[in-house]
Amino acid sequence: MPRTSVTPSDLPKSICFFNNKGGVGKTTLVANLAAELTLNHGKKVLVIDADPQCNLTQYVLTDEDFLKIYTSKDPHTIYSVIHPLSTGRGYTTDLPISKTKNFGFDVIIGDPRLALKEDLLAQDWREAKAGGIRGLRTTLVFHNVIEQAKNYDYIFFDMGPSLGAINRAILLAVDFFLVPMAIDIFSSWALTNIGEAVKVWEKDLEFGMRNSEDPSELPAVTMKKLRFLGYVTQQHKERKENEATRIVEAYNNISKKLPEIVSKNLSNFYPKTLNPHIGEIKHLASLAPKSQTLHQPMINVTAVGSYSSMRKQAREIYSGLAARFMENVEILDKEIRERS
Ligand SMILES: Nc1ncnc2c1ncn2[C@@H]1O[C@H](COP(=O)(O)OP(=O)(O)O)[C@@H](O)[C@H]1O
Ligand SMILES: [Mg+2]
Repeated sequence: MPRTSVTPSDLPKSICFFNNKGGVGKTTLVANLAAELTLNHGKKVLVIDADPQCNLTQYVLTDEDFLKIYTSKDPHTIYSVIHPLSTGRGYTTDLPISKTKNFGFDVIIGDPRLALKEDLLAQDWREAKAGGIRGLRTTLVFHNVIEQAKNYDYIFFDMGPSLGAINRAILLAVDFFLVPMAIDIFSSWALTNIGEAVKVWEKDLEFGMRNSEDPSELPAVTMKKLRFLGYVTQQHKERKENEATRIVEAYNNISKKLPEIVSKNLSNFYPKTLNPHIGEIKHLASLAPKSQTLHQPMINVTAVGSYSSMRKQAREIYSGLAARFMENVEILDKEIRERS
């Protein structure tokens, strides 16, 4: 089944951004890192909004495009990728890709109806584990999307905060996962439970593929072993001058423990040569909401006044993150090439 004609480095790298806690800055990171890579590093990036809440879509589309798309009769969204499977029509051959005006990258926009497909994917997962072709085809839908999006450098998935069926299918399909996190106890739990879950799922899927009822009917996709690209920490909020030292200390303690939590729980998912802490994002106060209302990446927010100095900070932060991101991709890519 794995193809032989292409080397891993020729293919796009697919990365999902996961945390089982919401509000940790996932969507903001996905959109702004993708914009930085596109606008300042000449990369071709496709961002897929796989969160039924569609925050990314609302962020990156202009109000005009948003209205035009969602008031049309048959909006081309991520739903157009999943829905045909439930009616037995198989994979779509025409990905519903839209352009963003201000962010530079391409996007498969989100759809609240995606939430209705959680059950389909959950039920078909049970079939997939038992080798059922229909179940395997549904489970491998994002593998298929990635295979079709060959002309990109990176494919990013923004996801909702669950370990449900949709996110499982994404985690099984992508090359790497990145964990955006706030410095708090709940969001660090993402680091402790995801490794175990993925290990079991990969085994289940492999078993299903090996024992499939009709191997000739299996979709021709490359199977992967998920690797950990790293984590990005996000300052929880602006530090107030009078904030109790006790609270600041508690944050510092969590922050200090992260490297240990990562190496304890995820060491099987990355090589020792990789530094998993990709970087830290400062709280950029009013720049974040401004960039949302203007539908512009933080590095290019056109508003004047105090925004200019925050925009400068955002540029430094994202340029640093992009460099470290590409460095870690390179390290994992090299590791995969050496193994194959
Ligand atoms: N660096 C930042 N500085 C200030 N506010 C931020 C920053 N990153 C995200 N936010 C704000 O935090 C909220 C949650 O961010 P979001 O990216 O939607 O998180 P998630 O996708 O994890 O739910 C949003 O209102 C966003 O504007
Ligand atoms: Mg989000």
